[in-house]
Amino acid sequence: MPTPRNPPPPIPAVCYNATTEQLGGVQALDRPAGVIAIDGQVAAGKTVVGRELARRLGCIYLDTGIMYRAITWKALQRGVSMDDGPALGDLARNSVLSLIGTEGNSILLDGRELGPELREPEIDRNVPLVAQVSEVRRELVRQQRAIAAETGRIVMMGRDIGGVVLPDADLKVFMTAAPEVRARRRHAELLNQGHTADYEQVLAETIARDEIDSQRYDSPLTQNPDALTVNTDGRTIEQVVDSILEKLYSLHSPGGTAESPDESGNPAVFPKEDG
Ligand code: DC
Repeated sequence: MPTPRNPPPPIPAVCYNATTEQLGGVQALDRPAGVIAIDGQVAAGKTVVGRELARRLGCIYLDTGIMYRAITWKALQRGVSMDDGPALGDLARNSVLSLIGTEGNSILLDGRELGPELREPEIDRNVPLVAQVSEVRRELVRQQRAIAAETGRIVMMGRDIGGVVLPDADLKVFMTAAPEVRARRRHAELLNQGHTADYEQVLAETIARDEIDSQRYDSPLTQNPDALTVNTDGRTIEQVVDSILEKLYSLHSPGGTAESPDESGNPAVFPKEDG
């Protein structure tokens, strides 16, 4: 991924259809797909939904959280204090982050591939501190806009995408789930990774991370009034993705409106833990 020094060009508002071939046999859209912003709380299911949505649309998928995680990893490696905003900003500006693969679970940092190490509990604990540093945010937002401008069609996922990174996104989605549901997902994920984890502690950490994300001074996690709200409590990935696609189609149908009413959830289950 190039890292241009100048501000990136404006993001194309309308992009075109994936072919059926690109979608792996899934029925192609016959309407513009565009730029989709997904925001939401920790472990609300953003990752699995974003990835599946991108696959169905034949779009690039970018989980911006992995960029904050990569900078946190580098800061820990170099012994940079989590309180030292200017040093963290320098670190971000001197880092080259590039996308690899389509799954969004690994990234190249200065040419080195990072994946599972970015999901370690130590990163979980420190990444909200790095993400609240304005200089880090400014640099990563610049890089995220450059990626969107370059690719045109993208599903971008994070906390500030609809509000800050891509305010002109064709569709904005805000994903939520109850803290207990999200903590259960995260707990299962940690056990799966071979960590010992206590559910009550994971719940407390989930709530603490929500608080830091929503109370930070720069770009706090907030729900945009024009975002489609999706509660993933007890719903399958397919149900959630279908509801988002339905909304996307309705925006492009005659009389479609960008004002997204809330969407109420039905019971079912998210099979896998995720952001
Ligand atoms: O989604 P995640 O858990 O991988 O995100 C890691 C951290 O980065 C989390 O504290 C939220 C923060 N983040 C952010 O502030 N802005 C983004 N666009 C993405 C993530």
